[in-house]
Amino acid sequence: MSIGNHPFGPLIAQLPLEEKVHLLTGETAFTLPGNETIGLAPLAFSDGPTGVRGLKFIGGDAVALFPNATLISGSWDDELAEEVGHMLSEEAHRQSIHVVLGPTVNLHRSPLGGRLFEAYSEDPYLTGRTAAAYVRGMQGNGTAACLKHLVANESETLRNFMDSRVSETALREVYLLPFEMAVEDAGAWSIMAAYNDINGISATENSHITEEIVKGEWGWDGLLMSDWFATKRTVESANGGLDLVMPGPDGPWGERLVAAVRRGDVAEATVDEHVVRLLRLAERTGGLGAGGLGTDGLGTDGLGTDDGGAVASPFKAGVPAPDSAIRKEQLRRIAARGMVLVKNEGGILPLEGVDTLALVGRHAIATQDMGGGSAQVNPPYQSTVAEGLSERLGGGLTVVDGVGVRNRPVAADPAFVTDPITGEPGLRVTYLAADGREIDSAHEAGTALTIGFDDGRAEPPAAVVISAVLENGAGPVRLGGIGAGRWTFAVDGEEVATAQLGFSGSDPGEGVLRPPAYAELRDLPERANVSAKLEFEPVDWREVLGRNPAIKLAEESHLLTTGSFNLVGFVAEAAGRTDEEAIAAAEDAARAAGTAVVVVGLTEEDETEASDKQTLALPGRQDELVRRVAAAAERTVVVVNAATPVLMPWLADVDAVLIAGLPGQEGGHAIAAVLTGEAEPTGRLVTTYPAADGASPAWEVTPDAALRLHYTDGSAVGYRGWHAGNAPEPLFWLGHGLGYGSWEYGEARLVPSSGGAATGGAPTGGATGGAPMVEVEVTNTSSRPSRETVQVYFMPAEPGQPVRLAGYAGADVAPGETVTVTVACDPRLFRRWDEAAAGWAPLGSGELLVARGLGDVRAQVSLP
Ligand code: BGC
Repeated sequence: MSIGNHPFGPLIAQLPLEEKVHLLTGETAFTLPGNETIGLAPLAFSDGPTGVRGLKFIGGDAVALFPNATLISGSWDDELAEEVGHMLSEEAHRQSIHVVLGPTVNLHRSPLGGRLFEAYSEDPYLTGRTAAAYVRGMQGNGTAACLKHLVANESETLRNFMDSRVSETALREVYLLPFEMAVEDAGAWSIMAAYNDINGISATENSHITEEIVKGEWGWDGLLMSDWFATKRTVESANGGLDLVMPGPDGPWGERLVAAVRRGDVAEATVDEHVVRLLRLAERTGGLGAGGLGTDGLGTDGLGTDDGGAVASPFKAGVPAPDSAIRKEQLRRIAARGMVLVKNEGGILPLEGVDTLALVGRHAIATQDMGGGSAQVNPPYQSTVAEGLSERLGGGLTVVDGVGVRNRPVAADPAFVTDPITGEPGLRVTYLAADGREIDSAHEAGTALTIGFDDGRAEPPAAVVISAVLENGAGPVRLGGIGAGRWTFAVDGEEVATAQLGFSGSDPGEGVLRPPAYAELRDLPERANVSAKLEFEPVDWREVLGRNPAIKLAEESHLLTTGSFNLVGFVAEAAGRTDEEAIAAAEDAARAAGTAVVVVGLTEEDETEASDKQTLALPGRQDELVRRVAAAAERTVVVVNAATPVLMPWLADVDAVLIAGLPGQEGGHAIAAVLTGEAEPTGRLVTTYPAADGASPAWEVTPDAALRLHYTDGSAVGYRGWHAGNAPEPLFWLGHGLGYGSWEYGEARLVPSSGGAATGGAPTGGATGGAPMVEVEVTNTSSRPSRETVQVYFMPAEPGQPVRLAGYAGADVAPGETVTVTVACDPRLFRRWDEAAAGWAPLGSGELLVARGLGDVRAQVSLP
């Protein structure tokens, strides 16, 4: 492109090539370089997507922890998703963040995907609509959203090297659709390119997807950044449509890109185009000042600047604190709205008039409020189901801890350890140079930290010494460490153990985010001074990865700079009772109380970035716990504290099951409010629950020897594939959810389309033209006010075309009331990709199914 006539032309013309290139790689882990000459502020990015964490990966300031993505999409409500986007933008303003790295719009393909908790659904339309609303809420308040990860990034195993083999049809119809919707309907300002390859070409170099489809066909004018350390080659990425390499300060662009331009391998005009997109993002987020734009009258959306051309702060003051009353109300309400009641025999829930209750399970007292990896934040507090219910039920509640749920040691509860210098909860960490010299020593409020990535230390430490006082006095403690290298443990100055832990996992992402862990039971004195020294051993990823002949690494691959990153944790935990003792205590309590609530679930080991699950079975002996409690109690409710499908071999033995997701900092209160009827779980499932391991249209997440993962399910992802008979009958369908109402449906009919937007249906900005609109009467036959979500699925007449969700609308209905709900279907579901013609073909005729999930179809309309 020529920048001569571009509004940013005069700015770019002031920059020498080196400076332009400098702007196109991060300055630190989460910031970009600024440039005073052109009035460009250093932009700040933060993860995303369930809280705005800030610039530190671990241990930053306290920020609001939101309900996870499936609870937001679980409401099937644009307004709620928009509210979430707005709230996240407020969190960003408070921390001077320009870009939030979310939403995640990859799909739930195989239920084994470790990172599905960050993503909305197995369905592209529900995902796209939720994402578009979230982006509108966020960008409407001046903060850029970043759609991630473009594209076909549905699993984590070998994520830096795997090649998603996806047909062009499935890409267009399914995996790109949420991106397309969030671009078309909400104008997302940035996108993140994934780690993986798509059909043999890296996502950071994939000009077919980036240049031809996203920037070309869709006319998208935003900025495409790489995922962190994902950029593999200099020339191919710069020419392939990538605009920005993250993070910095080092990476495969810099001097290499300057040299490539000088050699003529990359045109300077291509660099200019990347800079234009960067400046546009800065302008949109208030990071580009009018004073720096010269005198050519360039508009800057009214942003003020000071006289020197520096950028005036675009950030708003006075946003709610993360622990303010308003946040508590919002976070509790949002969590409850997305929870899904999948079974409620005899209307046992809500628990009204229950005086005595046994609350059982590790997740009842250690409720899992978030998943693992880059989406984690440091919340001001977390709440448990035990706290929530005891506030509501008081003395009638008996709480019993459950069986173990973890497969490996975890970082200590900060309240269990004390800094020996300050006496505060937490640790003392001393950083040592290679010659043993102390670099510095600091208090850590948490018990896990990152080294070498975002800690801002000029001199990288060769070792750390973690010290803590343990005033346990209760006998044996499980003591150990998390992190690769050589550990030496001492108690009261005396060495008690050493451990050599090597990096594990198949991918640097997994190696860093899931470091090896060690712990041993040890008898400690009543008050013990414990120290744990960890000597780091930098990993030579080239050597380690070179052992896999299928992995090809360019010399400049960004990944190779991650060898000295470490995630470190200190393990200290009182040895609890045995699982058998826990189950026996739970049985006694359940028998005595009559009614039992068992909270089961996964942990951030299972639902995490950088690794996938191997089974959908609940970890530990939780299934046995449920069965034995159900046999002892008269009535048993199970709360599943997990975002993604788990197996329920005890389903027939229990009366009710509530899927509570990973509900955020107010989670314990939200679950308690739902159980007691103070709030309604209005959610509908966003993913189909398989009945057994392997019983889903897509299962495998491990690529083959050539690193290929074949998307064999094509466009028939999730419920579409189940409906086509590609897997045995599921446990629960996408869209299923009982709530506390009960519903009668009338006949459904087509509404003559006026071409405009319909009530309660179509996404704002989404064209309804040409797509059908359906109307149906629904009656709330229960005695409670409730909310119904009317779902419309399109079953094309054309053979081989899968059924698909094509529209939905929610309605709040008083008891006994009948309302007419209009659902405007989205035209993007009434087309199919024609590979031969390389274009869209219309899919006109077929049936519209009005359903509460495809297991409960209530009405049908034929499309001529
Ligand atoms: C994740 C991204 C995240 C980035 C920055 C990567 O590991 O895949 O989703 O935004 O890290 O933390």
